[in-house]
Amino acid sequence: MSAFAGKKGLILGVANENSIAWAISKLILEQGGECGFTHLPDRPEDDRKKNRRRVSKLTDAYENAKFLIPLDVQDDENIRAAMETTREQFGKIDFLLHSIAFADRDDLGRDTIETSRDGFKLAMDVSVYSLIAVCNAAKDLFNPGAAVAAMTYFGGEKCVPGYNVMGICKAALEASVRYLAYDLGVRDVRVNALSAGPMRTLAGRAAGVDGMLRLYELMAPLGRNVTHEEVGQTGAFLLGDASNGITGEVLHIDGGYNMMGSPGRLLEKVNPAAVGAN
Ligand SMILES: NC(=O)c1ccc[n+]([C@@H]2O[C@H](COP(=O)([O-])OP(=O)(O)OC[C@H]3O[C@@H](n4cnc5c(N)ncnc54)[C@H](O)[C@@H]3O)[C@@H](O)[C@H]2O)c1
Repeated sequence: MSAFAGKKGLILGVANENSIAWAISKLILEQGGECGFTHLPDRPEDDRKKNRRRVSKLTDAYENAKFLIPLDVQDDENIRAAMETTREQFGKIDFLLHSIAFADRDDLGRDTIETSRDGFKLAMDVSVYSLIAVCNAAKDLFNPGAAVAAMTYFGGEKCVPGYNVMGICKAALEASVRYLAYDLGVRDVRVNALSAGPMRTLAGRAAGVDGMLRLYELMAPLGRNVTHEEVGQTGAFLLGDASNGITGEVLHIDGGYNMMGSPGRLLEKVNPAAVGAN
């Protein structure tokens, strides 16, 4: 398959082989796309450059993975430098994936009502403002027809206890997607969000995904969790020509969990007698 042949883009948010960004970008690479990658900067004292090595281990296997550069989205100069490298290497780009989120574990672990001011600012800065900042920095690099995708979760739409401050971030991220879709629409650039069910990743674990995986098996109409491959395919769909005409959308890939209005088959397990009662 070569759906991405001749296309170039930037992938933000690969940390390791379990990252959603890797599930998506691997597919794009396999479909002929050229990708530039970023990694979280390593601390100067880390001689082993662990962050970089974890990503290069994956990207080194692909000739069309063209560059790997450090990027901390809290640093405007870093963002500017990443876009400059992208311009030098690619000229223009056709896709940009934002697959980044962070909140302090203490804030994720405590009730939302106890969220600290600094923790709120940190989570919003990394998980939300960064999308606005990178879209702005990349705006002159986009080819007409280019697509941006950001990763979100259902906890931005409804209260998912435990997701806490990150739920607030995802609500703001989804609103940002709509406003950015409006701003970039005049350049023929699309901006969408992909709302994935729980997945075992570094960020997923920090957000308490393990309990949610079981819940989705019991409640989602498909009776299972989504796979990395499925999320990869849908992410590639949003970043490629197959989704031309779609912008400002939040597309769910969660086995149908988000559209349930009752616990469904989970209720049958808890209280079979109550099924069908109204
Ligand atoms: N895992 C899930 O269950 C799940 C479900 C829905 C949505 N998401 C979202 O998917 C996205 C990717 O998360 P993931 O689950 O693949 O986990 P992950 O830990 O593999 O990816 C998170 C990425 O954010 C990056 N990051 C954090 N702070 C950064 C900073 N200051 N500058 C630059 N990069 C930074 C990390 O380096 C990492 O690559 C996140 O937005 C997450 O909220 C995850």
